Amino acid sequence: MTSSSDLKFLGKQIILGVSGSIAAYKAVELLRVLVREGAAVSVVMTEAATRFVNPLTFEVLSRQPVTSNLFAAHQELLHLTLAERADLLVIAPATANVLAKCALGLADDLLSTMMLTTRCPVIIAPAMDGGMWDHPTVQLHTAVIRQRGVTVLEPEEGLLASGKVGRGRLTDQEAILSAIEARLSPRRDWVGQRVLVSAGPTQEAIDPVRFIGNRSSGKMGYAIAQAARERGAEVILVTGPTALERPHGVEVVPVLTAEDMGKALITRLAWSTVVLMAAAVADFRPRRSSQQKIKKEARTGMTLELEPTPDILETLAKQRSSQVIVGFAAETEPPLRHAEQKLKRKGIDLVVGNDVTADQCGFGSDSNAAVLVDRDGRVVELELMPKRELADRILDAIQTLSVFPAQHRPRNHE
Ligand code: C5P
Repeated sequence: MTSSSDLKFLGKQIILGVSGSIAAYKAVELLRVLVREGAAVSVVMTEAATRFVNPLTFEVLSRQPVTSNLFAAHQELLHLTLAERADLLVIAPATANVLAKCALGLADDLLSTMMLTTRCPVIIAPAMDGGMWDHPTVQLHTAVIRQRGVTVLEPEEGLLASGKVGRGRLTDQEAILSAIEARLSPRRDWVGQRVLVSAGPTQEAIDPVRFIGNRSSGKMGYAIAQAARERGAEVILVTGPTALERPHGVEVVPVLTAEDMGKALITRLAWSTVVLMAAAVADFRPRRSSQQKIKKEARTGMTLELEPTPDILETLAKQRSSQVIVGFAAETEPPLRHAEQKLKRKGIDLVVGNDVTADQCGFGSDSNAAVLVDRDGRVVELELMPKRELADRILDAIQTLSVFPAQHRPRNHE
């Protein structure tokens, strides 16, 4: 017999949002498991969802009334009361429409209004027909939502309701349940750590309007900053220019050039316990940058003389006291050998190597695969996964380093 203490979600208040996808029937099974594991579940359906599954099914299984109408809900201010007492909001299945509303802050029914009123963790499991998930608009909305700390699970590839094969099937129930477990009992295993992260490209001026830059989007560094924060660390993010939203709860220091980035990091080195150098720092800059815009009158071509930028990682590694220092190796070929060499040459503790030309990896992509090489001689291959998940795996690997300052005492406000 199962004792109540074995129940995974005992005492948890969960809002299960169901939207109008053919996969809505799968939410019935999800609800059954949540209830069986001890959760109190309030189901909120979109109007379209009620066309696929009768609300009565959810009412009977959740033993609670099911609401979809904002105006009926207003009588009890449900959009506030339910949302305020919830420990978690999980939307499964979520249509492209729900993702769009969430990204843009539209609030025209109870579920979308709750997405704005609640402050609890949110998990979204999308399901949509072929082609829609891959559409740039849906991908943009997904990226925006993820940056705000929402877990958006990847839909699966397979046979869709339309008979087409594509990516768009609701992910399996196990994946949704393990995401729920992770968000309900987040690890706070980085409390007491002070983490300095660099991210994005640098820009090295040629003249006041032109610069040498690179294709880094900053996504990996931002994901690491967010993950460390969520796991309890204090985080400072030193970032070159990116189009990303600043992660919640993280102090952001914007910089432009390699030199500025170096200064910003070196002055904060003593504060930190762990440094992750995810930025794509320019290796060379123009020896001279013109004060005025260079005219194109000289049609014979022009030669730019470049000089190396200071290597920030090497400087940090030389000046450190007990900080753990992690570097990145973005390569255009299998990265293992380069990562091993970089670890030794720079005198650091761990190198995250990745092949930026591999499919779905590297600059601008939301996913990445990597090989981790550390000073204790370990090599860990991490398969393709969302950058946010990879960020957690990198933090896990840092914790296993012999030099990781595990005994750091939490500060008062943590
Ligand atoms: O030497 P390389 O550029 O291949 O090494 C990449 C790593 O070194 C990255 O972690 C990057 O942030 C860091 N780097 C640096 N200063 C530079 C160039 C790269 O800290 N000037």
